[in-house]
Amino acid sequence: MQINENINIDFDAIPIEKFWNTGDVKENKMHRIHSYPAKFPAFITSKAIDYAKNYGSNVDWIADMFCGCGTTAYEATRNGKNFWGSDINPVATLIAKTKSQIYKDTNLIRYYNSILLNYGNISITQNDLEKINERIKYWFNKEQIVELLKLKISIYESIPIKSKYLNFFLTAFSNILKPTSMWLTKSIKPQVDPNKKPAKVLNAFSKQFNIMRIANLENDIHKKSQVKIENINFLNKKTRKPFVDLIVTSPPYVTSYEYADLHQLSTLWLDFVNDYKSLREGTIGSLYHNSDFIKDAKVLNKTGEEIVFKLYNQDKRKAKSTAKYFVDMQKTIKKSFDMLNNNGIALFVIGNTEYKGVRINNAKHLVESMLNVGFKDIEITKRKISNKILTPYRDKNGKFTTDKNSRKVYAEEFIVTGKKKNG
Ligand SMILES: C[S@@+](CC[C@H](N)C(=O)[O-])C[C@H]1O[C@@H](n2cnc3c(N)ncnc32)[C@H](O)[C@@H]1O
Repeated sequence: MQINENINIDFDAIPIEKFWNTGDVKENKMHRIHSYPAKFPAFITSKAIDYAKNYGSNVDWIADMFCGCGTTAYEATRNGKNFWGSDINPVATLIAKTKSQIYKDTNLIRYYNSILLNYGNISITQNDLEKINERIKYWFNKEQIVELLKLKISIYESIPIKSKYLNFFLTAFSNILKPTSMWLTKSIKPQVDPNKKPAKVLNAFSKQFNIMRIANLENDIHKKSQVKIENINFLNKKTRKPFVDLIVTSPPYVTSYEYADLHQLSTLWLDFVNDYKSLREGTIGSLYHNSDFIKDAKVLNKTGEEIVFKLYNQDKRKAKSTAKYFVDMQKTIKKSFDMLNNNGIALFVIGNTEYKGVRINNAKHLVESMLNVGFKDIEITKRKISNKILTPYRDKNGKFTTDKNSRKVYAEEFIVTGKKKNG
C-alpha cells in the first residue's frame, strides 16, 4: 500500500505480502554462531536489494544503524555490497565484526590448539578471584569462574591483539557464558535457575568452536566488500554528507528487550563496562532513561502524542519511556534520511505492540516521521513472523512458548520503505 499524505489508514487491515514471509534458500550457518534477541531473518536483505533494483536504484553501500549481531552486514557482503553499521551494544558489534570476516581453517585449528595448551599452564590465584566483578559472582559458580578466567587469559595469550582471529574466539567465549552460568535458559528476563546444572567450560567451548568452524567453512562473503561497523550511539553519529544507497534495519521496540541487561554476562566478562546498567542510557526503547518528559512531549509528532497521551492515563512511567522512544525514533528517521544518497531507499522492519489495552502503533508513528523529514513514495506491507523464527506467545517468565493461552506478543510485522528524491 502506498502512502502519500494521509496516514489515517487501518494498519491492521494491511494485507500480508508473501514476498517478505520466507526466503528462497536456507540461512547460512554463520547467522547462528551467537544468540541475539530480535534478530531478523537473513533473506530480508537480499529481498531489499531486489526491491531497490526494481525501483531502479543502484546499490553500492548498505547501512544498518541498529546492526545487532550483523544479519544485514553479513548478507550485504554476501551480495558483494559494501556495508556500514552501528550498534550501541558492544556485544552486538563484536559478533557483527566476527561474522563479516573469512577465516583460514588451518589458522582456526592452530589457534584453538594453542588456546587449549596455554589453558593447561594457567593457574588462578585467590587474588585473581577477588578482582572478579560481584555481578559475575551472582551468575556463576566458583568452578565455572575459575575455568572461564583461565580460558579468557589463554585466548588473549594465544592470539595477537590486532588479529581478526581474536574477535572470532572472543565471540565463541561470549556465546558459552549463558550455558556455563546459572542464567535461566532461553529466558528474555535475566533470572537465576536454581536447578540448573551449568555446562563445563571446556566442553562448551569445544562445541562452540566446532559450530563456528563449520559455519566458517561455508562462508561465502565477498572479500572485496568494505565493512565498517561502529560501536556507537547512532543518535550521536555525525553525517557530513550522504553515503549510503540502501538502509535495511529493524529498530528496537519500546521497552520490549533491555539489550544491556540481556548481554550483561558478555559485557562484564569481556570488560566492556564495569556496570552493565550504564549501557541502558543511550539504548533506544529502554525503560530506564533520564529523560525530560515535558521536553519530549513537545517534539512528538501527532501519532506519538496520541499514543503517549493514552498511555499516560494507564502508566506514567511507561508513557515517559514511550515518549523518549518516539523522540529517539524521530531523530533516527531524520538521520537516516540525511545518510541516504539521492534515489536511496530506506527499509524498516517494525511491529506494533499493545500495553494495558493501548495500541502502540509504531508503524504509524514511523510513517508519519518519514513523511515529516521528506521521504517519498512510502510503501507499507506486512509480513508474517514464521513460528520457526519466533513464536508470538510468551509464558509468565517471558520465555517463548507455543501455548496459545499465553501472552501474545507479535505475530506480524510491517515492512516500511521510503525513497529520497532530490527534485
Ligand atoms: C531489533 S535489534 C536489531 C537486530 C538485528 N537486525 C539483527 O538481526 O541482529 C535493535 C538493535 O538496536 C540497538 N540499539 C538500541 N539503541 C541504539 C542506539 N542508540 N544506537 C545504536 N544501536 C542501538 C540494540 O542494541 C539492538 O541491537
